[in-house]
Amino acid sequence: MTSQSGTSQTANWEDWTERWDKQQTAYLPVREQRFDVMSTVTTMLRGEDCTILDLACGPGSLSKRFLSLHPRSRSIGIDFDPVLLELAARTIGDVEGRLTLLRADVTDPNWIDLLAGRPVDAVLTTTALHWLTADQLVRLYRQLADVLPPGAVLLNGDHMAFDAHQPTLQRVASTIKEERWSGAFSAEGSEDYDQWWTALENYSDSLPSAERLPFEERRQGAGRHQAVKRRPGLDLHASTLRDAGFAEVGVIWANLDNRLLMAVR
Ligand SMILES: C[S@@+](CC[C@H](N)C(=O)[O-])C[C@H]1O[C@@H](n2cnc3c(N)ncnc32)[C@H](O)[C@@H]1O
Repeated sequence: MTSQSGTSQTANWEDWTERWDKQQTAYLPVREQRFDVMSTVTTMLRGEDCTILDLACGPGSLSKRFLSLHPRSRSIGIDFDPVLLELAARTIGDVEGRLTLLRADVTDPNWIDLLAGRPVDAVLTTTALHWLTADQLVRLYRQLADVLPPGAVLLNGDHMAFDAHQPTLQRVASTIKEERWSGAFSAEGSEDYDQWWTALENYSDSLPSAERLPFEERRQGAGRHQAVKRRPGLDLHASTLRDAGFAEVGVIWANLDNRLLMAVR
């Protein structure tokens, strides 16, 4: 956006993260409740003085809420998208040294090296691991099992479909979800994920060149991914976590096929 005087305006980063939260909530109206449950479970099991790993943190919605609710806690936010990390850095900052943002692709076999010397009590991830293939997920869960200490917790809040032997449950969940989404996006005109990105990318054209850098990196492919054709369902997530060495695995909260899968190391 260019002001009437012709000079480019500084981005109002807060507005874009608010719009992010709004569009994500249009997909999952109980998104805040899911954050709350994750936060409660984590501190119940790991105490207030704990470090979470916000895996695929995006603009940091989860870290922001967790750190403000728990002033003695710390978070490490990891994502591969330079623009979303920039939004997190500009709107949340480092929370007096309590938030560390790192850029990594969690499908890269070596990403886990970033955690060396950074003990983690809980891995929290939301609306993200459905971007991974089954093979990538298996490796990721094994890597996390290897670095987490006994008693640590992993909480994955995401779409995890009912499996092939539950076709009626699958149909019910997808029908209700489609109705919900057509209400939000068609009838009420809520902004969706792609519209949010298009609007932000258009807006970025008017930014001073230093602020355009992450957008240029993204245009060149940073943080881009191939759509996963066959997303792992709940059964695969749960069995993979058990095989990786997590002792207890189960759904602790659900809204249709959006589950909060919990695993204790
Ligand atoms: C729908 S967003 C969710 C972001 C955030 N967790 C939330 O709930 O608002 C999915 C996130 O996963 C990140 N992501 C997907 N694949 C990734 C990968 N292989 N490595 C790191 N981050 C990844 C994306 O960049 C994006 O930030």
